[in-house]
Amino acid sequence: MTSTNDIRRSFLDYFGSHEHAEVASAPLVPFSDPTLMFVNAGMVPFKNAFTGLEQPPAPRATSAQKCVRAGGKHNDLDNVGYTARHHTFFEMLGNFSFGDYFKEQAIHHAWTLLTREWGLDPARLLVTVYHTDDEAFDLWKKLTGFADEKIIRIPTKDNFWAMGSDGPCGPCSEIFYDHGDHIWGGPPGSPEEDGDRFVEIWNLVFMQHAQENDEIVADLPKPSIDTGMGIERVAAVMQGVHDNYDTDTFKHLIAASEGLTGVKAEGDRTASHRVIADHLRSTSFLMADGVLPSNEGRGYVLRRIMRRAMRHAHLLGASEPLMHRLVPALVTEMGQAYPELQRGQALIEEVLEREETQFRRTLDKGLKLLDEATGDMGEGGTLDGETAFKLYDTYGFPYDLTEDALRSRGIGVDRNGFDAAMQQQKAAARAAWKGSGEAASEDVWFDIAEREGSTEFTGYNSTTGEAAVVAIVKDGAEVDSANEGDAVVILTNQTPFYGESGGQTGDAGRIWTPEGLEFAVETTNKPLGRLHTHVGTIAKGSVKLGDAVHLEVDAERRDRIRANHSATHLVHAALRNRLGGHVTQKGSLVSDDRFRFDFSHPKPLSEEDVAAIEAEVNEEIRANETVGTRLMTPEDAVEAGALALFGEKYGDEVRVLSMGRKGGARDGSGRDYSVELCGGTHVKATGDIGLFKIVSESAVSSGVRRIEALTGEAARQWLVARDEAVKAIASALKTSPDDAPTRVAALVEERKRLEKELAEAKRALALGGGGSGDAGPADEDIGGVTFSGQVIDGLNPKELRPLLDEAKTRMGSGIAAICAVNDGKAAFAVAVTDDLTDRFSAVELVRTGVEALGGKGGGGRPDMAQGGGPDGSKADVALAAVRSTIAG
Ligand code: ALA
Repeated sequence: MTSTNDIRRSFLDYFGSHEHAEVASAPLVPFSDPTLMFVNAGMVPFKNAFTGLEQPPAPRATSAQKCVRAGGKHNDLDNVGYTARHHTFFEMLGNFSFGDYFKEQAIHHAWTLLTREWGLDPARLLVTVYHTDDEAFDLWKKLTGFADEKIIRIPTKDNFWAMGSDGPCGPCSEIFYDHGDHIWGGPPGSPEEDGDRFVEIWNLVFMQHAQENDEIVADLPKPSIDTGMGIERVAAVMQGVHDNYDTDTFKHLIAASEGLTGVKAEGDRTASHRVIADHLRSTSFLMADGVLPSNEGRGYVLRRIMRRAMRHAHLLGASEPLMHRLVPALVTEMGQAYPELQRGQALIEEVLEREETQFRRTLDKGLKLLDEATGDMGEGGTLDGETAFKLYDTYGFPYDLTEDALRSRGIGVDRNGFDAAMQQQKAAARAAWKGSGEAASEDVWFDIAEREGSTEFTGYNSTTGEAAVVAIVKDGAEVDSANEGDAVVILTNQTPFYGESGGQTGDAGRIWTPEGLEFAVETTNKPLGRLHTHVGTIAKGSVKLGDAVHLEVDAERRDRIRANHSATHLVHAALRNRLGGHVTQKGSLVSDDRFRFDFSHPKPLSEEDVAAIEAEVNEEIRANETVGTRLMTPEDAVEAGALALFGEKYGDEVRVLSMGRKGGARDGSGRDYSVELCGGTHVKATGDIGLFKIVSESAVSSGVRRIEALTGEAARQWLVARDEAVKAIASALKTSPDDAPTRVAALVEERKRLEKELAEAKRALALGGGGSGDAGPADEDIGGVTFSGQVIDGLNPKELRPLLDEAKTRMGSGIAAICAVNDGKAAFAVAVTDDLTDRFSAVELVRTGVEALGGKGGGGRPDMAQGGGPDGSKADVALAAVRSTIAG
């Protein structure tokens, strides 16, 4: 028997030997295609190569591409389990020519591989062509020698293939396999074509046109080839079975679930085992490609698939969570061809177990409610929409799960009623929101969120992407389009732009289209916590609703933000290690050029604290451990050691970031160095932070301190500037930077010494020892009273008293006055020996002088008084005033 793995290898090898480059499967999430929820065909990753927008990887290529058809335009979810060929996950084998070969060789290769390499019997094969495609008809005729009725002309869309409403497209030719007349059904185009006898195994698309909104708008630059073969169908053919679920891969997966549940896949149990096997594949592959369960967008589709499988596990009587225990069987089957499955195994198992444990908590109650509501209903009955909504809202039953649960009893669900109940709940939420007094001008965001749902954030793994414009807001109101020069807010269905939240600044960058739009995104906000709004100005061109646009985050700026954000986590841990567990985050601001981190702590950090924290953070940076991200319930996250931030609101799920050395928590708990709940964007490994430097530490309010810090290039530049300052100092001192501190200390000492010497010299001068002729004391006689008057520039006013005391001693009897002039201002003091105090008051004499100096007052005792004035140039006038007072 040829295994599915052999078939895949043999297909790729066949085309490889005919000069096709083997291209690995792209991830299931088409980040570069806004119109698709998941990759749903082998050509999706090559879309831009066909239209000429991007260089193809090679002129010819071949791949085995993972595809999911659940949610969005192609949705096979409802049928899975009940038919032979519906899957939510499948693989598409394909060969591609990008303007290299065309129809003739494509047909030739397909025929050769099927009949010569794989040995399929031509009698079992038949083909279709688009009704007007004579060329394809003739080529098949020549190659196969088929009678005309085995080359069927089909006039419908079935033979005109398009990826979606937009993109490359063209007529196609399909190859069918006849499973034999023991199965009911007719050839394509016949009234019995919906039967299962004739199964399409390969579709050859002759890509010639490009379409927009289902209209052909252009011819492709070069006619190209896209083919697609569902590996599950061809495996059925080659393994001699009719049903895809009887092929090796599915048999092994079903055997595993039979083993674990102890229930055979027989009778009405068959569908449950099939659902489980199929959904195990889609959910595991989606998680391996980064989709995680949530209540929005792709994450919700994933959750719906999971829950559907989990109900079937419950139906089979599994008393414990089942899905995660099947993952090893899947990895055995497909892990070699898709190594991402092996890499993601631990995460996939963990998430599946958690989801199933959680869902089982409400599953029983929900099923009971369902039973009560439908207990007396017979076939053809309808469950009311309100109950279906209650099941959804309270018990976590996705709508299609309820439908699936009632399907075997022939009971339907009132979809309109369900939608109406949903609308009612939204209206109530809106009313409550308004009542809470939030700005009414924000109404516009509520309208958009209600209509479009949350913006899907694709920016954890990527800084570029494509998206569809879902709203344009100008001056607070929605508009259909905007033009050059307009300042607007653009909303898209998905975006790699981070919206400002959790202290992290919003992303900047550009939004553009090949048609000429150039929108400069200044920042991105996040109103209602779930819309990402790109704020900016249209520099060129125009934009309208529905446009497919390219988004490009300023990646260098984002890298700086990442480094700063990750550094806050390390700093938080280092602060707690150094200062104690009372330290908790009180706020933070992470921008691209610096960050600040506020935390509770009663007193300023010492220089040693700052140095120790800096050293510890840099040590973790150099250890360069990868940063781990996991999704958990808030309770599990706290259990795992995450620091829950008091007062923050968290949803069902939180992202938990572990950073720094594994097992490196300083409390010896064996946890990682830092574990925190965080929705922000982070470095891949701590080494990306580069360097960390605290530049300030200050108080914010009582008990709250703030650190401001830099990382990476900004930190380096800061240090360079410091280095330059030191060099400038050294050069002024004519020494080396290393010796500069000692030199500066010596200079400071020297200055102190010189200042002291200078003061002493001045004093000596005042006492007459200077001999410079600069106003030494000269005693005068004024009407029999000895008077000594002096003006001394630069004399410290503190010296006035000691100098006057000395003058009194020298004179024995007399009056001395000194005016000390500093910076243009004067300090003035007068002393009177005791024998004269009954005739002259020092206080009065000082006041006379002070007045002359433009001042007021002055005080002291009759034998010694002091004052001052603003006008030092009048020092001589002051002395003259004293003289004349003495003279009477
Ligand atoms: N793109 C073509 C398909 O999906 C081959 O059928």
